[in-house]
Amino acid sequence: MKILVLGGGGREHALVWKLIESPRVEKIWCAPGNGGIAAEAECVAIDAGDVAAIVAFAEKVHPDLTIVGPELPLVNGLTDAFRQRNWAIVGPLQQAAQLEGSKIFSKEFLVRHGIPTAKMYGTFDTPAEAYKALPSVAWPAVIKADGLCAGKGVFLAPDFAAATDFIERVMEKNELGPGGKRILLEETLEGEELSFIILTDGNRYAPLVPTRDHKRVFDGDQGPNTGGMGAYSSDELLPDGLREIIRSRIVEPTLTGLAADSIRYQGFLYIGLMLTKSGPKVLEFNCRLGDPEAQAILARADFDLAEVLTDAATGCLDPTKLRWKPGASACLVLTSGGYPGKFESGKRIEGLTSVAHITGVKMLHAGTKLAGEEVVTNGGRVLGVTAAAAALEDSLALAYAAASRIHFEGMHYRKDIGAHATHLKAAGD
Ligand SMILES: Nc1ncnc2c1ncn2[C@@H]1O[C@H](COP(=O)(O)OP(=O)(O)O)[C@@H](O)[C@H]1O
Ligand SMILES: [Mg+2]
Repeated sequence: MKILVLGGGGREHALVWKLIESPRVEKIWCAPGNGGIAAEAECVAIDAGDVAAIVAFAEKVHPDLTIVGPELPLVNGLTDAFRQRNWAIVGPLQQAAQLEGSKIFSKEFLVRHGIPTAKMYGTFDTPAEAYKALPSVAWPAVIKADGLCAGKGVFLAPDFAAATDFIERVMEKNELGPGGKRILLEETLEGEELSFIILTDGNRYAPLVPTRDHKRVFDGDQGPNTGGMGAYSSDELLPDGLREIIRSRIVEPTLTGLAADSIRYQGFLYIGLMLTKSGPKVLEFNCRLGDPEAQAILARADFDLAEVLTDAATGCLDPTKLRWKPGASACLVLTSGGYPGKFESGKRIEGLTSVAHITGVKMLHAGTKLAGEEVVTNGGRVLGVTAAAAALEDSLALAYAAASRIHFEGMHYRKDIGAHATHLKAAGD
């Protein structure tokens, strides 16, 4: 098999890592890839969001399967272009990708199908309408820009003044670009978050192992939001009772709702949940794997990923093929100093060879590139130290031990990935 992977972050490196393990894979291209993927696949300098360029490349090399990492190609209609040509691809059509591409579309979908979610106060096309609605909401309230905003489109407004300021910046000053043209106002939910991701062929589905990610840049969930500072997976995140509730109240109504709306959905569907006192509620949908959730999930994969993804793309997914290593995994993200604000790139990364052979640890690259013989930083999130072990504590210890051997100027990482879970367990919760 020849496979094309789109994207160039840690998630895509994790996909490449697991695809190579398949005996049926003979060639992988990754567009655009990164400094770590370059050692395992052929990187091609094409922007993953550029549908025309990717179609042109696929026309030339004829991949047997294409796997889309990030959301942008999906929202831009890449899957539609591939399916029109009968090329196998993992990822939903543009219409279905609206579940992620438009928060208003997804909220209306949830409401229409009676799927538990935060109560909506309203959707607004103009700032005037939005300001007018503010006096009647309960604080804190959540404001969401409708379109793709690279993780910057959601604001937890503590009060009227802060909400007014956000609406002004997004709708009047267009600080988030076209994604902020419309907004959604909703109730604030309280609880722990859980990422529940399924793979579906449009008919059957298989749940992946549950994960939790850490979005804030500093320990103790302090500081601004990032693309994700780390994630872990453990079966203990999802007791049987909760799994059943998520299946019956959320996953199946979502798939039934898609069918009722005549939306065919193929690929990964990421369901972001808030585990509230009154049960799990949907915070959002993503139409792809999460990053760094994918790294933690794939570290536990014990099946032929190329085979399963081919099945998903061709409508013959067999959920029993997805087998998982029991235990746990963790992905610890090493970032450039200053991220998610301003940071410098081009810093030499040291220590990579010394961690290359630690059993149970995989160094997944994100913002890296090759500069001659050296690997240098090339983005905010630089590396994802990923480890799997029988217990969460052990996978965390492995990842932290490996991280301590890596060095680049300004390197930052959180010291408390997964700590909340191990703490809860120690307390007997
Ligand atoms: N209704 C809500 N109540 C409480 N927190 C929320 C709510 N909606 C979103 N959040 C918080 O904001 C984060 C980002 O929101 P999300 O809808 O996932 O948007 P995106 O990932 O596209 O930025 C969530 O992970 C969650 O922490
Ligand atoms: Mg989110």
